[in-house]
Amino acid sequence: MKKILVTGGLGFIGSHTVVELQNEGFEVVIIDDLSNTTLSVLENIEAITNKKPIFYEADVRIKSDLESVFDAHKIDGVIHFAAFKAVGESIAKPLEYYENNLSSLINILMVLKNRNLDHFIFSSSATVYGEPNELPITENAPVKKAESVYGNTKKIGEEIIKDSCKAYGINAIALRYFNPIGAHASAKIGELPLGVPQNLIPYVTQTAAGIREQLSVFGDDYATEDGTAIRDYIHVVDLAKAHIAALKRLLDKNNKNSFEFFNIGTGKGTSVLEIIQTFEKVNNLKLNYKIVGRRDGDVMSCYADTTIANNELQWKTEIRLEEALRSAWKWQQNQTV
Ligand code: UFG
Repeated sequence: MKKILVTGGLGFIGSHTVVELQNEGFEVVIIDDLSNTTLSVLENIEAITNKKPIFYEADVRIKSDLESVFDAHKIDGVIHFAAFKAVGESIAKPLEYYENNLSSLINILMVLKNRNLDHFIFSSSATVYGEPNELPITENAPVKKAESVYGNTKKIGEEIIKDSCKAYGINAIALRYFNPIGAHASAKIGELPLGVPQNLIPYVTQTAAGIREQLSVFGDDYATEDGTAIRDYIHVVDLAKAHIAALKRLLDKNNKNSFEFFNIGTGKGTSVLEIIQTFEKVNNLKLNYKIVGRRDGDVMSCYADTTIANNELQWKTEIRLEEALRSAWKWQQNQTV
């Protein structure tokens, strides 16, 4: 049985990926510092899979802690989620973001190099494409100057990995996520935003639940059909499965380059108003929302061409937007009961 280290394994995408890894017969070791999640997620993973992952409450930035996990386990691959991810906060706290996101990445790569270990999967983001010249976005689209410090940590992170792969013989895949949404069908794990949500779907579900009074739609004057911005919303379980596909590609030595990157989205663009209408329809409720001005740093349209990911990873999304929005609401309701 292959043993996989998952950093940030109790976070939103991490926890869903741990479940899929266990479903696929991998043994999972989690490192999480609980800075943006709670220990209850570990129990909930176990409730879904009937298997408790090995867990270390530790900070990947602390080298000695990381080393002791590698001393205790023979690790066959690493999926690295642990990072700060709030776009707005990153602009206010650049040093904290660069320090956290980059030093944790460097520490792990250093351990892999020093121990001659291999197989690294990195959480990257479609944000590396900035405002795209062409839609849908293919992997051949140029990487642009990052709009935020958070985005820059992903862009620089990919460069660090690429250089390390070349120099040390490590094999790695960066997955450029589009917009992950939804929750596990069991409603036992999902997104746990701290404070006021910055992302659309948690804001929608908290408004529906009465936690927020009104949803603000940021801009209806974009050059899109209904004037609101377009994104590619992917169910988190489909996204989690992309990690398994990428990991297997590395373990089976099917990768074509030592560093590869793939777009992980549905290939379909949806506007903010379409999200609201679909959410209302599938959950049979009404949302209180108003149109306000554009949000700084937002691009108009961002959706993936997934052809390369579909072909190379032999992976594709299976869960429709309707189901994703139903699961997001079910998860939200589970939080308030
Ligand atoms: N939006 C609203 N109201 C809200 C929140 C969001 O109208 O209260 C709109 C945004 O303007 C945007 C769309 O909903 O048009 C999606 O916004 P999100 O914040 O959910 O997602 P983003 O596309 O802005 O963010 C995503 C990822 C980030 C990543 C970023 C890069 O969640 O991790 O893309 O662009 F950094």
